[in-house]
Parts: sequence; structure tokens; C-alpha cells
Amino acid sequence: MDVFEIQGGVRLNGSIRVNGSKNSALPLLAACLLTDQPITLSDVPELLDTSNMLRLIDELGCQRVDDKPDRASGMTFQTLDTTNHHARYDIVKTMRGSICVLGPLLAARGRARVAMPGGCAIGQRPVDLHLRGLEALGATIELDSGDIVATAPAGGLKGSRLFLGGAFGSTVLGTANVMSAATLAKGQTIIESAACEPEIVDLAKLLVQMGAKISGAGSPRITIQGVDSLSGAQHTVMPDRIEAGTFMCAAAITNSDITLENCPLDALMALTNTLQQVGVDIQPADQTDPMRLTARITSARVLQPAVITTQPHPGFPTDLQAQMIALLCIADGHSVVTEKIFPERFMHLAELQRMGAMVFRQGPTAIISGVRQLVGAPVMASDLRASACLVLAGLAAQGTTTIHRVYHLDRGYEKLEERLAALGAKIVRKTDPNQD
Ligand code: EPU
Repeated sequence: MDVFEIQGGVRLNGSIRVNGSKNSALPLLAACLLTDQPITLSDVPELLDTSNMLRLIDELGCQRVDDKPDRASGMTFQTLDTTNHHARYDIVKTMRGSICVLGPLLAARGRARVAMPGGCAIGQRPVDLHLRGLEALGATIELDSGDIVATAPAGGLKGSRLFLGGAFGSTVLGTANVMSAATLAKGQTIIESAACEPEIVDLAKLLVQMGAKISGAGSPRITIQGVDSLSGAQHTVMPDRIEAGTFMCAAAITNSDITLENCPLDALMALTNTLQQVGVDIQPADQTDPMRLTARITSARVLQPAVITTQPHPGFPTDLQAQMIALLCIADGHSVVTEKIFPERFMHLAELQRMGAMVFRQGPTAIISGVRQLVGAPVMASDLRASACLVLAGLAAQGTTTIHRVYHLDRGYEKLEERLAALGAKIVRKTDPNQD
């Protein structure tokens, strides 16, 4: 297994392009199962999670049909075989996002068998809301040997009005599943308490291009008028707001000056507002062309503490909570961070303590007393965003930080060490001499 070795305390400088979004690409790839026509997707990031999703849709009969040597110029997928409707546990267990094939398979093939995803390092992750939503469209759901077995009624799925809210707000992939399934249902579907995340808007854009009739995506009420079939389309995956936010935090924690190209500032207002409050300067450099948004991040002073609560979009994203905590570890005062989406998502705190951070947990809340300097140490990555938090802490720390199990990072950040190194960071990937 690989490790990252970071020599901290180096300022970053330069420009970097934000890649296509992982959390958008997964449901977009799953949506290719809804039609037998070709779909071309540009800017699909090269990540472990997207590779797993490509493998999964390929097993389900949707193959890559272009002959382009790289992904950058777009990949074309086409469903050529509809006989297999089983997403096996072997793949699902490596990537919880596999659940987003459930809705498209059920709608297009009338049945789906998808291994039930288990829990993960960030806590329990039930799928009851996904299932309730699909049942409201007339599906019968059973559990068999750890698999969810969903069957559409004889005449196909039927539109209905349904509520997708749960104890922790709405569900992003649940909304993606139900919205995708409803495109081919008979009649109208209204999803109340739908997730408002930008990735849902991105998925709706592709579906509309494919001929779906959807309005309201991005708001808590999405209306879908079912159609008989969907066609081919071309779409560019939206920029990854969490990757952009991670780079912003990297600039802030190292007192640096960097420029982000393809930066989705509109999708990041909760983060940019908080960063500005703690003393980071964020300047939109080019607002003229929405496809070429650029932002300049500068931070040259002592950071102020903050009080943050993670919330569904447009609130502060849970996927940036760990990175923000890394930053607050060196702020001048006490910060309070409450996690309202995944209350157990605090695996990074114990590792930050190893680097000299003063962080304490009380239930779903972390209390952070800023220290002047973090100190490099060997630490263990536990999940994707916790790993990103440790990289940020390592960039700011005095001395050497070695981060073990960086495969978690490879799930969601493309060649992170190379891209940070291009900005001047002293970070290298090595093979762990004591493999675990
Ligand atoms: N929930 C339920 N029942 C459900 C589904 C969700 O109670 O049926 C709960 C969850 O346990 C959680 C809350 O609702 O407390 C929100 O979960 P959601 O379903 O929205 O999460 P998700 O769709 O499975 C996506 C992202 C996550 C991100 C969350 C929240 C993808 C592939 N994953 O997950 O991203 O944290 O939305 O924004 O899109 C990451 O990228 O590191 C990551 C974990």
C-alpha cells in the first residue's frame, strides 16, 4: 500500500484546474443504463470510484464504445445487452455509490438486483429512503441473501407524489435514483424534500438532454413527467466542488496564493463565506464565461476561529468538514464544528491529535482550540475526506508527515500528490515498507 510523505511548511503558488466531480460522475454513468442510445460524457475524473463504476455498468451491459485513448476528450457509453440486472457485492462493497444503478436498472429493465451496501468509516448509511421512493413508484422491494431485489409492476413504474426527507435531511443518491427511475414511469412524479445538491442539477441536465421532462431540480420539489423512452446525449461533468474546496483549504492552511480554474464558486458559497470570515481572500477572477470560472485564493494572515454546522446544500457540506477542521486547528482561538449529516464522521480527530492539534469531541460536535503550529507525524487515513484533512494538516505542519493507507484518497482525488507538488508542495508517494 502507498503512503504520502509530506515536508510541511511550504507555501503553494500557481494555478490548478479543478477536475470533473466524482459525486456527479457516478449517477451520470449510472444514467447511461436508461437508454440503448450512445451517451458521451466529458471530464469524467480518473479515480478508483469512477473506474469501479465503469466496471459495474460494463458488467450490466453498458460498454464504452469510443476509441479515444484518454478520457479527457469524452467517453461514449452504450447499453448493448440488457440481460444482466445484478450489481454484485464484489463491486458494491468497494463503492457505496454503486447504489445509484438501482433506479436506472429498475426503470429500464423492470427489475434490479443490487447488493445492499454496508456501513463505512463515516457511519451507518441506510438506503431506506431510496427504497421507499422506488416503492412509491410501484416497485416491489425484497431482500434476498444481502441483495435488494426490486421489481416494477407489469405495466411499468407509475408516477406518484412522494416524500424523500429523513432524520438527517434528504438523500442525494436517493433523489438521483428516484428522479432517474421516474423519467420512464407512467405519468407525473413529484419528489418532495428532494436533495438540492448541485450534483442533482447536473444529473437532471443530462436526463433532460436525453429527452426526460424534469423541472425544479436544485429545489426541494422536483417534478418529472414520464416519457416512453430516452435518447442519446452529450454532457460535461460539473467541476468537483469538494475538490475545489479542498484546494481552497490547502491555500488557506499554507498562507498561499493559488488560482483555481474550472472552479464552481456558485456551488461553494457556504465554504467561501466561512473562509472569508476566518480571513481568507477569495476573488472570482473571471466571471464572464460560466464554463471557465476562475478563482484566486490568498491567505496571508493569522486565521480566525469559526462556528460551523454541516447541512444539506446550500449549507456547509459534510464532505468539507474534515478539511475545514484541519484549517481551524491553527486558527487563533476556539472553533466549534457540528456534524449534522453523518454524526460519526470524526475519524480524523484522533490522527490530528497525533500532530499536536487540540481537538475534542462531544457527540456530533468537535471543539478545536487553535495551536500555533502542527507537528509532522505518521498518521493513518480512514476515509476519503479524513485523508484529505490529514494531507492539509501535513502541508502546514513542521517536519515530516507520513500518511498511511492513501488508497482512500485515490477514491476521490486524481493524482493529488502530483497536483499539489505542481503548486510547490513537498509531497511524494512511496510504497509503504511495512505493508499492512
Ligand atoms: N440517509 C438515510 N436513509 C437513506 C439515505 C440516507 O437515513 O436511505 C441518511 C444518511 O445516513 C445521512 C443522510 O441521510 O445521514 C444523507 O445521506 P445521503 O443519502 O444524502 O448520502 P449519499 O447520497 O449516500 C452523497 C455523497 C457523499 C456525501 C453525501 C451527503 C456520493 C457518491 N456520495 O452520499 O459523499 O457525503 O451525499 O452530501 O454522491 C464523499 O464524497 O466523501 C461522500 C461521502
